[in-house]
Amino acid sequence: MSGKRDEEDEPDWYEAGLGHLWLPYAQMKTARPPLAVERTHGSRIVLADGRELIDGIASWWTTCHGYNHPHIRNAVERQLARMPHVMLGGLAHEQALTLARRLATWLPGDLERVFLSESGSVAVEIAMKMAVQYWVNRGVRGRQQFVAFTGGYHGDTTGTMAVGDPQAGLNARFHGLLPEHHVVALPQDEASAAAFAHLLERHADALAGIIIEPLVQGAGGMRFHDAAVLQRLRAAADRYELLLIFDEIFTGFGRTGTLFACEAAGVVPDIITLSKALTGGTLPLAATVARRKVFDAFWSDDPLHALMHGPTYTGNALACAAANASLDLFEREPRLAQASAIAAALERGLSPCRGLPRVKDVRVRGAIGVVELDRIDDLDGLRARFVEQGVFIRPFGSIVYLTPALTISEEDLATLTGAIVQVVAAL
Ligand SMILES: Cc1ncc(COP(=O)(O)O)c(C=O)c1O
Repeated sequence: MSGKRDEEDEPDWYEAGLGHLWLPYAQMKTARPPLAVERTHGSRIVLADGRELIDGIASWWTTCHGYNHPHIRNAVERQLARMPHVMLGGLAHEQALTLARRLATWLPGDLERVFLSESGSVAVEIAMKMAVQYWVNRGVRGRQQFVAFTGGYHGDTTGTMAVGDPQAGLNARFHGLLPEHHVVALPQDEASAAAFAHLLERHADALAGIIIEPLVQGAGGMRFHDAAVLQRLRAAADRYELLLIFDEIFTGFGRTGTLFACEAAGVVPDIITLSKALTGGTLPLAATVARRKVFDAFWSDDPLHALMHGPTYTGNALACAAANASLDLFEREPRLAQASAIAAALERGLSPCRGLPRVKDVRVRGAIGVVELDRIDDLDGLRARFVEQGVFIRPFGSIVYLTPALTISEEDLATLTGAIVQVVAAL
């Protein structure tokens, strides 16, 4: 790894370990070395050299209550003393069962059967397996493919890559590994709606379902669409009897302003995936939640009708305890009001970017603020400029964005938006 760093300031573990860790999304030869973090609190990241950064990303949108929330920490510590983990094969425990019951109550309609895993990608893989086997169990042959959308992102495992945006050929290198699905434009206007209708007309018999990130396509470019698109998808799914999967791994838990994005659209999907903020960013956990009719297709005397999936750490007790504590906080504290205050502050704070020469678009939805540039030539350099301003903001593609903790203070948020205005104006 190249780049300047003051080696005097770095702890021993950093130097000793860095040569052995393979970092995510990084060209290891040219990427700047990562910042050594000593600890976190609230919306702050404390670096090993003593600098403190205001976090604008909430660790890939997970830490919705801020870092180290005492209520979650206490719940995990209590659970750790009692039982860190038991397998769910043949065993069950309070935290997993309580979490399943609570999620079923919180989610709309009859989304009531919860399958637990450890990452968002796996939750989506499980949703896809559920959808395909739903048809197999019902004796319908050939429904193995999905309709997904350009700009979408559902994970980095191969099954989920195949329903993500093809990313200008990035997927092509894994051609033999990725099954073929239909990745098409969102039906947002007359032309795309007609193309979408035509696709379903021609291929419905080969389709298991439709998968989408509702309201906001996150990692694919922070693109927003209207609730009407989701209503259109629900109507199309009903017409062609497809299963509708909402991937709310990013949008769930208040990020777009309502607890779940599907609520804002008044649409109940057949399967929903959740992760990220599920544990308040404390431990890895994900959930794939199915409606009754999906579960019913697996309810049978035939062992072959069972869902043959069982991650080793499914329902991990520590992660479930963190999730239950996180749900407590949503119940006790005004997270949705905070998300709406953040939306107003993002709108105010980022609006000076409108009209700057390099800025293509400024958009805000819930606690998501986006400044889209014409292009970013030196991503690493831009990221470093934010650190120089005392903030952690991690642009990607041509996007500079904020997804702070819902608990961030007004002052910290103003510092984040101010840093964006200043850095983008200087481009
Ligand atoms: C909408 C969506 N789905 C799936 C994933 C994959 O989650 P994970 O990184 O936990 O596998 C992500 C991660 O960014 C996501 O935003």
